[in-house]
Amino acid sequence: MTATNRYDFVVVSNRLPVDRMVHDDGTASWHRSPGGLVTALEPVMRASQGAWVGWAGQADLDLEPFTFDDVTLIPVALSLLEIEHYYEGFSNDTLWPLYHDVIAQPSYHREWWDAYVEVNQRFADASARVASLGATVWVQDYQLQLVPRMLREQRPDLTIGFFNHIPFPPYGLYAQLPWRTQIIDGLLGADVIGFQRVADAGNFSRAVRRLLGYATRTPEIRVADGAGGHRTVIAKAFPISIDVAEFEEIAGRPEVQARAQQIRDDLGNPSTIMLGVDRLDYTKGIRHRLKAFGELLDEGALSVGDAVLVQVASPSRERVAAYMQLRDEIELTVGRLNGTHASISHSAVAYLHHGYPREEMVALYLAADVMLVTALRDGMNLVAKEFVACQLDEGGVLILSEFAGAADELKNALLVNPHDIDGLKEAMVAAVRMPQRERTTRMRALRRRVRENDVSRWSNTFLDTLRHANHHSSAR
Ligand code: F6P
Repeated sequence: MTATNRYDFVVVSNRLPVDRMVHDDGTASWHRSPGGLVTALEPVMRASQGAWVGWAGQADLDLEPFTFDDVTLIPVALSLLEIEHYYEGFSNDTLWPLYHDVIAQPSYHREWWDAYVEVNQRFADASARVASLGATVWVQDYQLQLVPRMLREQRPDLTIGFFNHIPFPPYGLYAQLPWRTQIIDGLLGADVIGFQRVADAGNFSRAVRRLLGYATRTPEIRVADGAGGHRTVIAKAFPISIDVAEFEEIAGRPEVQARAQQIRDDLGNPSTIMLGVDRLDYTKGIRHRLKAFGELLDEGALSVGDAVLVQVASPSRERVAAYMQLRDEIELTVGRLNGTHASISHSAVAYLHHGYPREEMVALYLAADVMLVTALRDGMNLVAKEFVACQLDEGGVLILSEFAGAADELKNALLVNPHDIDGLKEAMVAAVRMPQRERTTRMRALRRRVRENDVSRWSNTFLDTLRHANHHSSAR
């Protein structure tokens, strides 16, 4: 395989869909990474024999293209300093907090921006090299917002899509960004720009009108093409989802169900298991849910032995200061809660700072009675959809933040404002006491909704819009 091979379909994302493991004997091997994006795009990639451009997750790995599970992977190398400035810095300490309602203070550093531009150019160059004439290139997420424009400049023959997996902020916040016009202009290099929620697409269109003065007529934006003419860009919501059939299949396996029972037994068979599953991120509202749970224990509305909170917090972005601080705060809170309420035989909170394989996650979803998704802001939150897909017996209750994109679709969940601790506590008590009939009615409706819009529908709808949009533009 050489980099001169050309592909009709190219996906570009910050990370490749594989993780590199280095063994004790120094050899390395690749493993499919557990992320939702991989599952989402895998069927499309296979059908189109496409290529995937991305970073291999470690510093200074200058690798040749290789094939994994029938997909060609094109690694882009990042130096240690670029990881610091482009990935940990501009992507995760500037854009991430800014796009999530400034829950944490974004840092604005010019050298981080310079690295972001440079690395985006490298991704664009790598993609331009492997895309065949007239190919479709689908760029993913906030780390690569300049790539669509950079690609269009080099390769006007391409059809370019972009999907933003995280929220797009209201203009009042977005306006803080010193490079706000460059980012908007970078995105407008695409033919179709996809967002999770209708509100995100609206925020983006408003930013375009304010910063560039282009006319918008939802979902179309009329963009000057630099040669005195115009192109039409579509900016629209395409809510992402999960592979429902895969989760249902795993949830139906006898060994996974046995593992769920074992988890319940190991926890001492409490009447209620509450579950939180998140990357350890300040956007997820983990502190808010611990506070609400702790107060319910203080007040005696819940008691240890009868109720337990299992909190999986998978390690994430561990070199970024805000994440280090969050970990300290969460672990202090969990320690205090257990110190105050746990007994020798029962914990109040079972806190797990690990990532787990999918089968174990499904066993946890099956073991839980109440799922807590209390994000302060979240693009979609696929955990909510995974929990719903796994409820084959329609027995679980989902508590879902109205600030997660999933709330637009999962209206039969108990919707909460996680900032309102009393409201959150009421929802937790209501979930624990909910009669079986109501649980079933709600979960049945949720399952129907998740099944209707599964991940293949997401990618098919986006790619159909992209085909049509490009055809429409060039026909003018
Ligand atoms: O959608 C949000 C996102 O940043 C994805 O781009 C990424 O796959 C995931 O969260 C995990 O983040 P990271 O790649 O920084 O570990």
